[in-house]
Amino acid sequence: MQAMQWDGTCLTLLNQTMLPNKIEYICCNDYRVVADAIRRLEVRGAPAIGAAAAFAFVLGAREAAQDTERFWDTVLNMVHELKMTRPTAVNLFWALERMLNLVQHNKQQGRGVEEILGLLEREAAAIFDEDKKINIEISKNGAELFAKDHSVAVLTHCNAGALATAAQGTALGVIREAWADGRISRVFADETRPLLQGARLTAWELTQDGIPVTIITDSMAGWVMKKGLVQAVIVGADRITLNGDVANKIGTYSVAVLAKEHGIPFYVAAPTTTFDFSMKCGDDIPIEERDASEVTRFAGNCIAPDGVDVFNPAFDVTPNRLVSAIITEFGVIRAPFDVAITKLKVMKGGI
Ligand code: MRU
Repeated sequence: MQAMQWDGTCLTLLNQTMLPNKIEYICCNDYRVVADAIRRLEVRGAPAIGAAAAFAFVLGAREAAQDTERFWDTVLNMVHELKMTRPTAVNLFWALERMLNLVQHNKQQGRGVEEILGLLEREAAAIFDEDKKINIEISKNGAELFAKDHSVAVLTHCNAGALATAAQGTALGVIREAWADGRISRVFADETRPLLQGARLTAWELTQDGIPVTIITDSMAGWVMKKGLVQAVIVGADRITLNGDVANKIGTYSVAVLAKEHGIPFYVAAPTTTFDFSMKCGDDIPIEERDASEVTRFAGNCIAPDGVDVFNPAFDVTPNRLVSAIITEFGVIRAPFDVAITKLKVMKGGI
């Protein structure tokens, strides 16, 4: 399955809002089309959003190059527009800043716009390729957390799989690797209201790989744990702060609280591109709020009284005390997270 492909002129995205009922691709040859796709969740998941934004940057920079005098200002406006699409997943900002730094650095070196355009395309491709390698490392590191007796069932929330990244995924990468290695027997996938990433996307990915998956509604997670049906939880992340607080899809926090109550380990699998080394704790993370209709409508039908008040945060923050370990491409880190994450920051050059 290829959820994102760049052919030099067009970014092709698998439209995730149509899955699993329809395989539909969107051809983006304008950065605005990519911005809309991110906003509408046609492309979603933190690393995938970052990579899509990097390719959108290439498209926008090419357009900006038509007026070399105004190139820098036009690029800055385009970056602002892309940053406004979704506020929580830090990969979006990380990828755009990386692209912007490349322009600035090469401008200072006296390189011309044409040359910079070539470098930008290479950088976007590098962001995508690096994420593939990161997925492989996270999968290996995470699989080691499970014994080789094929007896463990895990619960996951939302979709942190191939659709959300450049390769096999983060949480689902670990699950895929552990399954192949005889360490995991079954996956329980929370449906993940309101947009059903668990039921529509995670269950679809796992079914395609022949990995046994059971869908439950979000409110069933506690009972599934109480009945002893799962022995671990593993989720992805949209932003992790210096102290190890984790923003992820709404409902993740409830799952973490339930896991604690039932003595089940709660693992987070995330690349270091999802760490926000500039943010001290989860209170600082901007939480996206989405349209009320996502809650009041279901499969095209209205399921709530007209005009009723709705609260629809797309993410929540799980405090570090509920996190058993964070699986990164550099290894598995545990509490005290501030110490471990500061080490990662230093290793990555303080980005
Ligand atoms: O709103 P979404 O579908 O973009 O939310 C995605 C998640 O919360 C994922 O768990 C997260 O981005 C990790 S993807 C590897």
